Amino acid sequence: MKKIVATVEDVNPEEEKLFTSLRASSWDEFHGQETIKTALQIAIAAAQKREEAIEHVLFYGPPGLGKTTLSHIIAREMDATIKITSGPALARSGDLASILSNLEKGDVLFIDEIHRLHKTVEETLYSAMEDYALDVVLGKGPSARTLRIDLPQFTIIGATTRAGMLSAPLRDRFGVIHRLEFYKPDELGIIIRGAATKLNVILDELSLVEIAKRARGTPRIALKLLKRVRDYAQVKGTGAITFPLTQQALSLLDVDTMGLDPLDMKYLAAIIKKHKGGPVGIETIASTLSEDVGTLEDMVEPYLLQLGFLQRTSRGRVATQSAYEHLGITYPQQK
Ligand SMILES: Nc1ncnc2c1ncn2[C@@H]1O[C@H](COP(=O)(O)OP(=O)(O)OP(=O)(O)O)[C@@H](O)[C@H]1O
Ligand SMILES: [Mg+2]
Repeated sequence: MKKIVATVEDVNPEEEKLFTSLRASSWDEFHGQETIKTALQIAIAAAQKREEAIEHVLFYGPPGLGKTTLSHIIAREMDATIKITSGPALARSGDLASILSNLEKGDVLFIDEIHRLHKTVEETLYSAMEDYALDVVLGKGPSARTLRIDLPQFTIIGATTRAGMLSAPLRDRFGVIHRLEFYKPDELGIIIRGAATKLNVILDELSLVEIAKRARGTPRIALKLLKRVRDYAQVKGTGAITFPLTQQALSLLDVDTMGLDPLDMKYLAAIIKKHKGGPVGIETIASTLSEDVGTLEDMVEPYLLQLGFLQRTSRGRVATQSAYEHLGITYPQQK
């Protein structure tokens, strides 16, 4: 097994610390996303057979669904060294050039938040990804010349919550593109069960189902809830997680019975109470909530669409009858 090198500081060191102990580190510990898993396993096996690096991979989808985790698993399976950086951390193309020129054959360079790459850095990446070469400009003005440096064959793994913000030329340079989907409650149940075993805590089946249901389809949230419930059970009980303790612990947290967080609730309330249930344009909702359109599109809407609480129509967003019911508001029959 080769090492992990954090080239530039990790994107979210606090969170990394919190989850290092629970991070799925192999296929056996990674549950759900079966189609993606199979496709990646085939790509890895094929690349290994050819003794090549695997093609550049792009993961996109809402936060906490396993983009970073998958990237680490790929590197591990390829027995490759993974270097970690992020779009905003690469301020100048020189930063990227120095990382790239230090890569060895087969290495993986993980670029988180790849939609936030600076334009000039992105352009440097084009030839690196396509031709495994770096074009370095030496000198300035009329005497400037370009020097082409060959790079070893490596793999870029990009991750983003905002695929729509990626430029077409960058997107096209990824041979493999996967969109991560929300997890079903039974898949989250398996993840929670695995984490409970790792944490050495006993939890009953009802608690498992309840945590899974409230986890917003997201493994990161499932793990976070499990940890909070475990703390509660340790302080208020004997340590074992029972259903009454789970309910009490979860009622203290900002998630409701369907996993909606405060922003999800504010979003639905804005459509229903301020805009008669819609249709209403996303810009209007964003300004009602003083939120950024992108945040709503990427963090809030996908889950509400998945639950069937929201519809996107050509005339704008519409709250469905289930959304009214969930908020305890009578659905206007003449709609
Ligand atoms: N399919 C899975 N099986 C088991 N654990 C998972 C799975 N997906 C994610 N996790 C766990 O959930 C946590 C969050 O995953 P990860 O950091 O990979 O999400 P991400 O998609 O990179 O999020 P972000 O967009 O915020 O960077 C990690 O602790 C990870 O181990
Ligand atoms: Mg991540």
